[in-house]
Amino acid sequence: MRTLVLGSGGRESALAWALNRSTSVTELVCAPGNPGTEGFAATLDVDIADPDAVVDAARLMAADLVVVGPEGPLVAGVADALRAAGVKVFGPDANAARIEGSKTHAKELMDRAGIRTARWSSFDSVDKAVAFADELGPPYVVKADGLAAGKGVIVTEDRETAVEAIRDCLEKDRFGEAGATVVVEEYLDGEEVSLIAVTDGSTVVPFEPAQDYKRAFDGDRGPNTGGMGCYSPVPACPPDVAERMVHDVVEPMVAATRAAGAPFSGAIYAGLVLTAEGPRVLEFNARFGDPETQALLPRLRSDFGELALACAEGDLAGAQLEWDEEVCVGVVLASGGYPAAYPTGLEISGLEAAAAVDGVEVFHAGTARRDGTIVTSGGRVLVVSALAPTFERARALAYDAASRIDFEGKHVREDIALKAQISERSNA
Ligand code: AMP
Ligand code: GLY
Repeated sequence: MRTLVLGSGGRESALAWALNRSTSVTELVCAPGNPGTEGFAATLDVDIADPDAVVDAARLMAADLVVVGPEGPLVAGVADALRAAGVKVFGPDANAARIEGSKTHAKELMDRAGIRTARWSSFDSVDKAVAFADELGPPYVVKADGLAAGKGVIVTEDRETAVEAIRDCLEKDRFGEAGATVVVEEYLDGEEVSLIAVTDGSTVVPFEPAQDYKRAFDGDRGPNTGGMGCYSPVPACPPDVAERMVHDVVEPMVAATRAAGAPFSGAIYAGLVLTAEGPRVLEFNARFGDPETQALLPRLRSDFGELALACAEGDLAGAQLEWDEEVCVGVVLASGGYPAAYPTGLEISGLEAAAAVDGVEVFHAGTARRDGTIVTSGGRVLVVSALAPTFERARALAYDAASRIDFEGKHVREDIALKAQISERSNA
């Protein structure tokens, strides 16, 4: 199977890595990929947000399957164009991807399907938004309606900051079109869990839960990021709880997309909070998580290529996934300053030494090649994922590998999966 992966981040590195291990994948091309994927996949320079360009690229390589990594191309209609051209694609049509592209749309579908989420309302007027925030009280949660790369969400105890966030969206156009509407919602208190499933619009095949660390600094302090690290499985979300979430959240959402005339096909991602009243949905995404994928795919024993193809063919009925008993911890190495402004072009050392650590995979995310060296090119630069029998061991391996890599300003959260390690120790 000739397979094309769209994207260049850490998630796409992990998708390509898993496809490379698939017995059914005979040729692998990444567009554009990164210096990490160059080690095992061909590279193609294509504007992945341009549906026509992607169709041309897929035709040129006679792709049997296209796997779309990020949300941008999905929302831009790349999957629609591929399907229309008769190319099999893993990823939803633009209409179905609106579960991520518009928070208001997602909330409406959830309300219709009876899926429990934070109390919310969307506004295009500052006064009404502030009045609703006052009604809900602190902590305040303010979100730009559209895509903002994980940065359009403000959670704050401070009313002034919340009001400013509302003004930033509605009056100052800080997020452009994405912030033309603002969502104000109830604060959900509890552990966060990411539950990802692969669906062909009818059958839902759940992955094991993962937990992401959204804040920039240790102890969940600092601004929201795209994700600073991840682990799987999640001791706070045992199998019976995960099964209930599939039944109460993911399956009804897939059914809701079907009922709305835009059945979802691809990876559907539910971000949940385990509140004292039970799981509540924070958000849906129309793709795999980043860095969740880097902590999930190393644990997947089943053939990912076959799974993606079955999904694209609408043939998931009966599919079951096998998981490694070992746990995985993925640690993000970020540029100093991220998620705000950060320098790029800084030389990275120690990549080989890190990859030599037992059980460790180094996934490139924001890297580039320059004159024979590898340099930083993004906010999240690398993810090191370690597979081991215990969280204690997996953390030790991941942090050992992360310490072998260096670039100026490197920022790593030191507490990834610490909660899981503590709960493992108290259960031992
Ligand atoms: P989102 O992009 O909607 O997932 O929001 C990004 C992050 O902001 C989430 O992963 C949470 O950590 C936090 N967040 C968003 N909405 C809420 C909420 N209603 N209550 C508490 N935290 C939230
Ligand atoms: N790690 C969060 C996301 O992929 O949306």
